[in-house]
Amino acid sequence: MARILVTGGAGFIGSHLLEALCAAGDEVRVLDDLSTGRRANLPAGVALIEGDVADPHTVAGAMAGVDACYHLAAIASVERGVQDWLGTHRANLTGAITVFDAARARPGLRARPVPVVYASSAAVYGDAADLPITEATPPRPLSAYGADKLGCELHARVASHVHGVPAVGLRFFNVYGPRQDPRSPYSGVISIFCERLLAGAPVTIYGDGGQSRDFIYVGDIVAGLRGAMARAMAGAALAGEVFNLCTGVATRIDALAATIAHLCGGAADIRHAPARSGEIRDSVGARAAAAAAIGLPRPTALAEGLSETLSWMRAAV
Ligand SMILES: NC(=O)c1ccc[n+]([C@@H]2O[C@H](COP(=O)([O-])OP(=O)(O)OC[C@H]3O[C@@H](n4cnc5c(N)ncnc54)[C@H](O)[C@@H]3O)[C@@H](O)[C@H]2O)c1
Repeated sequence: MARILVTGGAGFIGSHLLEALCAAGDEVRVLDDLSTGRRANLPAGVALIEGDVADPHTVAGAMAGVDACYHLAAIASVERGVQDWLGTHRANLTGAITVFDAARARPGLRARPVPVVYASSAAVYGDAADLPITEATPPRPLSAYGADKLGCELHARVASHVHGVPAVGLRFFNVYGPRQDPRSPYSGVISIFCERLLAGAPVTIYGDGGQSRDFIYVGDIVAGLRGAMARAMAGAALAGEVFNLCTGVATRIDALAATIAHLCGGAADIRHAPARSGEIRDSVGARAAAAAAIGLPRPTALAEGLSETLSWMRAAV
């Protein structure tokens, strides 16, 4: 049994991680400000510290006595970064530095630093010209969100190199699954399409529908997070280490709509709207480096992950 801190644990991805950690018998505490997360997402027995991940005092208290930290807290929205550049920067980059700082060894408090596995994003790549995107692809973020995630990676490198904090970053591609809120204005395309197609409502595709994304099921993200933590806790992580968490499969948006409609038992009623300016056309990642370093299982097939998502939505929404 390990004592684990999960920042952002009341959110979509965090809540799935909590279930896996609790099932493994770990003692888990969560630091979350409940800005998008929900208390109801916490399994029984998980302690909640309600507070801001960019507040040093709060984070130091949350980190006290833990063996490991997963840092997921963030404003997980490109659009919010456009509207509130400084506010998202504080949560997304200052929050990460606050976590790395609190994880350092402290004389009289903690002899060894706390290993940290943190959420980065495929948004660090921007509109990559060569596909699939590997970890060697030069990062060229096109948003404040992507720039701050790249900043997290640079400061994780400092945390490791200067302060000896074992830190592993994971560049999540497009994550989907149960508990992703379809009503949030910042929600992922899968949760929005699932909710609308289950209700027999039309879906809107911006542009021709030929744009593609690498959709990864939330259970595969949890496996990646836990594999990365095993590596960090074993002392095998190198300074500045980051891996893609993706499937390596590109899915067109029009094909996605058709697949979800088929699983709902009908045909998709698709309305086309003008392409959104600045939208990335294609994104697909390479998973070989992560598979070799953290031993990822075979990714969940899209139809299987969509079925799980639809089952949850039928029961919950
Ligand atoms: N969902 C995706 O497709 C995706 C893709 C790439 C990266 N990520 C990253 O994964 C992580 C988890 O994302 P998610 O999809 O579960 O989003 P989410 O919004 O469901 O979870 C984020 C959690 O962080 C909390 N939070 C936000 N600001 C905070 C603050 N200042 N202090 C404390 N808590 C705060 C929220 O209340 C929420 O519970 C984030 O770091 C996100 O950037 C997600």
